[in-house]
Amino acid sequence: MRKKITAGNWKMNLDYDSATSLAREIVQKGIGKGDLMIMAVPFPYLSQINNIVADASAIDVAAQNCHHEVKGAYTGEVSVDMLKSLNIKYCLVGHSERRQIGETDEILKTKIDLCLANGITPIFCCGESLQIREDGTHQGFVQTQLENSLFHLADDDLLKVIIAYEPIWAIGTGKTASAEQAQEMHAHLRNTIAQKYTAAVADGISILYGGSVKPANAQELFANADVDGGLIGGASLAAESFSAISESF
Ligand code: PGA
Repeated sequence: MRKKITAGNWKMNLDYDSATSLAREIVQKGIGKGDLMIMAVPFPYLSQINNIVADASAIDVAAQNCHHEVKGAYTGEVSVDMLKSLNIKYCLVGHSERRQIGETDEILKTKIDLCLANGITPIFCCGESLQIREDGTHQGFVQTQLENSLFHLADDDLLKVIIAYEPIWAIGTGKTASAEQAQEMHAHLRNTIAQKYTAAVADGISILYGGSVKPANAQELFANADVDGGLIGGASLAAESFSAISESF
């Protein structure tokens, strides 16, 4: 059975002391009603926060990105091997803020393969711009993102991936997709996976919604049959709101 997941994406926020305090507070509050809680934290804090969550059950740490080359002359980049050597188990791949600075479906496909080859679960982010939503071509657009970066995988590898649907127009804007809009896209993605793979594979994959998830709207979003939790930006930066969201299943 697929997992219910509360995932936070801290992005480029918080200094070291605030970040470690937040992680401690979140661990203290616990995972809430879902099956798994993940915090995607800035690179410099990965190791320390991984230690903070070490004894917490079902609370884990993710990197926010990784490089698509294995190693070498890529100043300032972080490889999947490095993440593995820190015992990091999850990594965001293809957040729209990374796609906007040049990460293509092809690059993301390579990142997905590298993560899986190293035992790291990719949290694959996808989602359309406002223009595409208004044109009415959003379902096909997001489907193509999945096809290009994920659909080369074998069944057992695809089953290891977590998908996060994040409409760009809802990220950091306070404008959430309605529960119907979220469910419609999630159902479309799950059906697409069922057609390409099997119903069992489609049923086994957690599909999270991201984009202005808050304590006030989480319950309505998570109540949908195909919404298996959230990838939360702004509201993951305070233990209280993140914890309230985690109670919304
Ligand atoms: P938001 O960000 O919750 O602040 O909209 C979500 C995300 O970018 O993952």
